Amino acid sequence: MIEVKNVWKYFNGNVVLQDINATFEKGKINMVIGKSGSGKTVLLKCMVGLYTPEQGNIFYDGRDFTNANRKTKKQIRQEIGMVFQGGALFDSLTVLENVMFPLEMFTELNYEQRRHIAIKSLNRVNLYNVEDKYPAELSGGMRKRVAIARAIVNKPKYLFFDEPNSGLDPITARVIDNLIIEIAKEYQTTTIINTHDIQSVISMAEKVVFIHNGQKWWEGDKDKMLKSENAELLDFIKASGYIR
Ligand SMILES: Nc1ncnc2c1ncn2[C@@H]1O[C@H](COP(=O)(O)OP(=O)(O)OP(=O)(O)O)[C@@H](O)[C@H]1O
Ligand SMILES: [Mg+2]
Repeated sequence: MIEVKNVWKYFNGNVVLQDINATFEKGKINMVIGKSGSGKTVLLKCMVGLYTPEQGNIFYDGRDFTNANRKTKKQIRQEIGMVFQGGALFDSLTVLENVMFPLEMFTELNYEQRRHIAIKSLNRVNLYNVEDKYPAELSGGMRKRVAIARAIVNKPKYLFFDEPNSGLDPITARVIDNLIIEIAKEYQTTTIINTHDIQSVISMAEKVVFIHNGQKWWEGDKDKMLKSENAELLDFIKASGYIR
């Protein structure tokens, strides 16, 4: 379980996250939804340690990540895999080098071992013989797969996805969703996905956290979400074209 407790984040004096409290359930697919600009990416970046909150704490299965010493922080970082909004591969590195990157950072494995594991990870997301290509030579859907292969190469306990299927056609978007479900179940990860795609929420979410103007506005399971009377949540769901 990941717990976010009383998290505040400011940029240039503007409050972007306001006293967020939320829990992300162990071994489940937790989805963070909310309008563009509501604070989903900032929350995710606070959770994985890319941003430091002005106040508050993040706990990973009871371990205080925010106030952890260097050793514990590194340990928790190693247990995290992340797919950034837009994929965020290193353009100047090949596919193989991209996927091997976390292994270089966090393990003592030699090149052959790293290469072997990275190729296995690429095969897991159904990519074959693309090791020597550069990201620019791949389609958007393939780039997402490479980003997923990189995120799972370390066998993470916690997997974060920021808008994993944005910019993809509806069919490829569903293929990526299904791949994420398969991997999350296979690796038994605690999974956190930012999205504004209500279709993904309907098909994947086990727990939903709704962010509205930088505040945790609602949280609960998907069935409760679909029955909720929370006005802003209802507006969000209806605006996505979903009719209950
Ligand atoms: N590095 C930054 N510096 C200053 N302001 C920022 C920074 N990152 C985000 N913000 C602001 O924080 C707010 C929340 O942004 P965030 O990217 O978290 O939204 P989001 O919910 O992920 O939106 P989207 O669905 O479009 O990805 C926005 O007002 C944004 O302008
Ligand atoms: Mg975002």
